[in-house]
Amino acid sequence: MRVVFIGPPGAGKGTQSQRLLKYLQVPHISTGDLLREAVRNRTNQGLLAEKYMSEGCLVPDPVMIDLVGKRLDDPDCLGGCLLDGFPRTLGQAQALDRYLTEHSGPLDGVLELKVNENVLIQRLAGRGRSDDEPKVIRQRFRTYRDRTEPLLEYYRVRGLLESIDGIGTQDEVFDRIRQALTRLGERIKSTRGA
Ligand code: AP5
Ligand code: MG
Repeated sequence: MRVVFIGPPGAGKGTQSQRLLKYLQVPHISTGDLLREAVRNRTNQGLLAEKYMSEGCLVPDPVMIDLVGKRLDDPDCLGGCLLDGFPRTLGQAQALDRYLTEHSGPLDGVLELKVNENVLIQRLAGRGRSDDEPKVIRQRFRTYRDRTEPLLEYYRVRGLLESIDGIGTQDEVFDRIRQALTRLGERIKSTRGA
């Protein structure tokens, strides 16, 4: 399956991806993790990305599209993938559609994890990543609302969106995700005749 995770900072995309990758048996591609690795290794992409990340802003689309395109070219992604944190803009979503049309199969679904900001602030306060300080968190929320939330409509009209309540224990949220995947599977069967 080819699945995208969308959700605000701290919604649990990374946490649930760890469970989902075992369930779906596909690689987990977290653009945040790829970027943090590039920053650690002082690559050109990492050096460019660092400033945007530390301010809670998005790394420019061309950098992200190149980074993800290269990862999707790896043979382990042929059978499917779980994208966590990509796409985050309309330009990235369109680039992903183009890539998948040219290289593999279509996207099977988009999972939105919904969590309100009060809960998110508590979760991030307890984690302590370098971009988890209050000022940067506020900017990450703004960036999510302005640049990424519009994607929900993009995917809703394409019949790909499943919205999931992300509040509860990790087990409860994962159960909801499994149910959402079942609904997506049924929808795919009826629309693609597969
Ligand atoms: P990224 O690393 O993707 O950060 P994010 O979207 O802000 O999300 P987080 O990783 O903080 O949260 P999460 O949803 O994964 O939650 P988690 O599972 O960790 O991106 C970082 C930066 O990179 C961006 O700001 C941007 O600059 C850049 N970037 C990345 N992708 C980009 C792109 N496509 N385009 C441009 N720029 C890009 O959980 C959070 C905490 O909550 C954890 O402590 C966890 O233990 C806890 N938790 C999880 N689930 C539960 C639960 N059910 N109950 C209680 N606690 C829970
Ligand atoms: Mg994450």
